[in-house]
Amino acid sequence: MKPLIIRQATLADGTSGDLYLIDGILADAPAATAEIIDAAELLALPGLVDPHAHLREPGNEAAETIATGTLAAARGGYTCVLAMPNTTPATNGPDEALWLLDRAAAVSAQAQVVPIGAITHDRAGKRLAELSALAESAAKVRVFSDDGACVMDAALLRAALETVASFDGVIAEHAQDAGLAGAMACCGADLEACAASHLPVWPRDAEWRIVERDIALAEATGARVHICHVSTLESLDLIRRAKEHGVRVSAEATPHHLLLGSDLLIQSTARNGPDTTYKVNPPLRPTADVMALREAVADGTIDMIGTDHAPHTSVDKGKPFPAASPGMIGLEQALSVVMETLVNPGMIGWPDVARLMSHAPATLAGLDNQGQPLIPGNPANIVLIDPNRRAVVDRERSASKARNNPYHGMNLPDPVVCTIWAGQVTYRR
Ligand code: DOR
Ligand code: ZN
Repeated sequence: MKPLIIRQATLADGTSGDLYLIDGILADAPAATAEIIDAAELLALPGLVDPHAHLREPGNEAAETIATGTLAAARGGYTCVLAMPNTTPATNGPDEALWLLDRAAAVSAQAQVVPIGAITHDRAGKRLAELSALAESAAKVRVFSDDGACVMDAALLRAALETVASFDGVIAEHAQDAGLAGAMACCGADLEACAASHLPVWPRDAEWRIVERDIALAEATGARVHICHVSTLESLDLIRRAKEHGVRVSAEATPHHLLLGSDLLIQSTARNGPDTTYKVNPPLRPTADVMALREAVADGTIDMIGTDHAPHTSVDKGKPFPAASPGMIGLEQALSVVMETLVNPGMIGWPDVARLMSHAPATLAGLDNQGQPLIPGNPANIVLIDPNRRAVVDRERSASKARNNPYHGMNLPDPVVCTIWAGQVTYRR
């Protein structure tokens, strides 16, 4: 591995200097010979960590693979992604988790892949997956989720919380009450707007009633619960109050819920019929929720940004709206959107970006080799950022296999210049 010198980069705290990379570690002195990267105009942050990505392998390699998903991650500045277990088979136990790690190594994944374990076997909500075995395995799984589905059986969720508490694991909940939302629900706008557009409504309380239940169970068990992709201000209020009461709850916001509103779906429906690009769970919400979510990131109610990168084939996205697969991709534009919605308007600073997009997700997963400040002795996981560059997003120029990119055609910040994972350049513009 060739030593690197990153010359005169500005760090999150505003200080600047050279970074010396030797054998995958930040060193306090340069190697005798090294490649030099001039970063005089660039910011250097710890490599980003995504707590919520769908890599689709095994089982749906037509939509994404570990190779293509981690390439998209590297392009977005990520050095680590937590892989959701809604694969086929699901990540039910050590066999599946270790397979993922082996596969990531075999395909030379361009970012660290960390398996998230299923909470229930096959995410079917009937019996627990092999939680303790996953934690004790070489994969050291700490985060568990049935993402895509909510654990509707409260007794089963309580059992899961009690189990993961014994090894300080965390349950990451996809808060969607299956009964209240219904199988076809897709519209997150106000009731009248959904009705006028003839779109099946995904009501707000289908989210916050689950958030309320899960907070109560976390409080009762003393276990950690993490709320995925929060979309409503009611959920934010519940999380804010629970934190004030010392409940061990954390929460994530997606880039798409920070930038895009339900008006996109309503307007596309009025023009040409609903655009499946804007179908996602939980759905895009009205402007008041989008703004509340930004405030919640700024005030610390939201702990981290999770992309919910959800690649789908054009066949699955091309179905009639109610049957089309929910989800949008996000790894390549996550930092762009965080800059556009939060950094550039002055709501958060670069140290907050490092916390929200690197340190906090690494801590959630119990990783000590990611999310660390850029000081000697720490792993050389770095993203170099040009804060001034912008570009029009072109979904055809994606490393992802999928084209369900909701930012296509938008002029957004285009910050990522170089990504370095464990001392190796994984992306360079
Ligand atoms: O829209 C979504 N898509 N939400 C989820 O929770 C799952 C994801 C997927 O796997 O496609
Ligand atoms: Zn989800």
